[in-house]
Amino acid sequence: MALLEINKIEKTYFSKTSVTEAIKDINLAVERGEFISIIGPSGCGKTTLLSMISGLLKPTSGTIKLDGKQITKPTPETGYMLQQDYLFPWLSIRRNITLGLKTMGLLTKETECHALHLLNEMGLGEFKDVYPSQLSGGMRQRVALVRMLATQPKLLLLDEPFSALDFQTKLKLEDLVHSTIKEHEKTAILVTHDISEAIAMSDRIVMLSRRPATIHRIFKVPDALKGLEPFEARNTALFNDLFQDIWEELESFEHKRTS
Ligand SMILES: Nc1ncnc2c1ncn2[C@@H]1O[C@H](COP(=O)(O)OP(=O)(O)OP(=O)(O)O)[C@@H](O)[C@H]1O
Ligand SMILES: [Mg+2]
Repeated sequence: MALLEINKIEKTYFSKTSVTEAIKDINLAVERGEFISIIGPSGCGKTTLLSMISGLLKPTSGTIKLDGKQITKPTPETGYMLQQDYLFPWLSIRRNITLGLKTMGLLTKETECHALHLLNEMGLGEFKDVYPSQLSGGMRQRVALVRMLATQPKLLLLDEPFSALDFQTKLKLEDLVHSTIKEHEKTAILVTHDISEAIAMSDRIVMLSRRPATIHRIFKVPDALKGLEPFEARNTALFNDLFQDIWEELESFEHKRTS
């Protein structure tokens, strides 16, 4: 059984004055340990899809199951990381990374120790007693990653977590996140606008259509690329070929829009 099973989900937003069909008939199974990227035109429904997987948002129809159980609300089994880090400025880094544990009633000496260990792994052990404003954007995103991993979720949802960072920091963080996720044997879904990032990090790339989003095409990343760290993968011919394929497919959406 796949870890995550998305079955015929649809999502329509209703307001007093408008109806917006965001997602239409998405089916997807994500295996344990798999790293999936989701790409697609701006505004097509990527965040909507992730929010439904996290349990924060209910589908209009269809089901989403994690480990065979239907998702109806957020659970500690799923971690969600956004473009902005949403660290609390008035709490120290130590308090920030243990906040999820605390709100879920899981904070013990042992779980706090594990969180601090993760912070060390991210190279930030010496910053545990400072406040978020004293850290750079890349450091804050690493703290947000630790906060997400601290509750030991099975499934990680990452919504453009690197997009606000400068290019060099982004590349370093891609490598770090990739190796951390593989080491801890997590399953992950990354939303990104960046084709290179998607290829470098994933096992499969799911391309969504324009809104209402359906799955347009799924690209499998060749095994020869998957063994490489994201930074290495970017320098191979295989990488460039796949980039070209995906680029052309995304461009075809743009042409349909203007023609
Ligand atoms: N709470 C909401 N109420 C009404 N409409 C919404 C709501 N949230 C999103 N939408 C609409 O649903 C569609 C999909 O939005 P969503 O944020 O999921 O897209 P996205 O693919 O994540 O976009 P981006 O690439 O800009 O991050 C958009 O047309 C958006 O305006
Ligand atoms: Mg979005």
